[in-house]
Amino acid sequence: MTDTKPIRRIAIIGTGVIGASWTALFLAKGLQVVATDIAPNAEAALRKFVETAWPALKRLGLSPGASQSNLTFTADLAQALPGAGLVQENGPERIDFKQKLYRQLDELLPPDVIIASSSSGLTMSGIQSGAASHPERCVIAHPFNPPHLIPLVEIVGGAKTSEATIRRAAEFYTSIGQRTVRLNKEMPGHVANRLQAALAREVYYLVAEGVVSAADVDTALSWGPGLRWGVMGNLMLNHLGGGPGGIEHFFQQFTGPMTAWWKTLGSPVLTPEVQKKLINSVHAEVGSRTIEELEAERDEVLLGLIELRNKIAKSSQRKSTEPVA
Ligand SMILES: NC(=O)c1ccc[n+]([C@@H]2O[C@H](COP(=O)([O-])OP(=O)(O)OC[C@H]3O[C@@H](n4cnc5c(N)ncnc54)[C@H](O)[C@@H]3O)[C@@H](O)[C@H]2O)c1
Repeated sequence: MTDTKPIRRIAIIGTGVIGASWTALFLAKGLQVVATDIAPNAEAALRKFVETAWPALKRLGLSPGASQSNLTFTADLAQALPGAGLVQENGPERIDFKQKLYRQLDELLPPDVIIASSSSGLTMSGIQSGAASHPERCVIAHPFNPPHLIPLVEIVGGAKTSEATIRRAAEFYTSIGQRTVRLNKEMPGHVANRLQAALAREVYYLVAEGVVSAADVDTALSWGPGLRWGVMGNLMLNHLGGGPGGIEHFFQQFTGPMTAWWKTLGSPVLTPEVQKKLINSVHAEVGSRTIEELEAERDEVLLGLIELRNKIAKSSQRKSTEPVA
């Protein structure tokens, strides 16, 4: 695989929740996008999504040449591929579907085109068995919903993925401003979803056991650790939690209590009754607020936080490149 060709055109396969959001992001980064989907109203839904997302993308800063008119739609997979430097695959989360699709893609695409799957839980080793000729160009590039706002992309190869593909994919997503994380091993659910799953298990347990209401557990999270997690990760916060003694002191002080709590963490069974209890508690928390109102509130705060983090990241990047006097 040659790794010199710049990626300027993306083929998007599947324009549902994730494919539509990727499309909006790639257009905002000044790339050409050709999208394909088999659903009858897919093109209209996609264009509407991009139009709705555009003001937020504009606020975060459009790249030179960014335009909604750089989007082409075709219902024919083969028509979507010519000239693409990278395929972002967002089809249904089914291994049989993806293996068959990768067989087709492998036959239709030149070998230097990266095929990146958004899959949340399937492994690339499983998916790429469909791509008999060039499995080395297949990689997982898992976004966090919605990728046009949330920068995380988890990158992980399968048994047959080449190092060059992993490197080139990471360079591409980084070049458009995404934050990439590389997994050295395949894991069901990758990393970020596993972290969410671990936390969700305890959230459900605490509400199911009647320890707290949905409103209180959500307050505890979003006005407590959640605020800090929007700035730094767990380990860096542990380092600060240790005071001047840093992470070493943190472990000296908290290893005992923390590992004792681990022994009491819950493993709730999501029976219909437990689900009902959780659902009722969530509805009490939601009150009369509509989903649209809650989404607007979430996105406004999220945009402000992303803007601030981008500003701080730029200024620390500037400082690190300033010549030392
Ligand atoms: N929804 C999320 O929060 C999320 C987050 C990260 C990753 N993902 C991953 O992204 C992928 C897509 O998930 P989604 O939530 O967008 O699903 P979705 O159901 O919203 O979208 C899937 C789309 O694929 C289309 N499709 C089906 N067969 C097709 C074909 N043969 N050719 C082209 N298009 C076809 C469907 O019409 C649909 O629009 C999955 O692999 C999922 O694991 C989802």
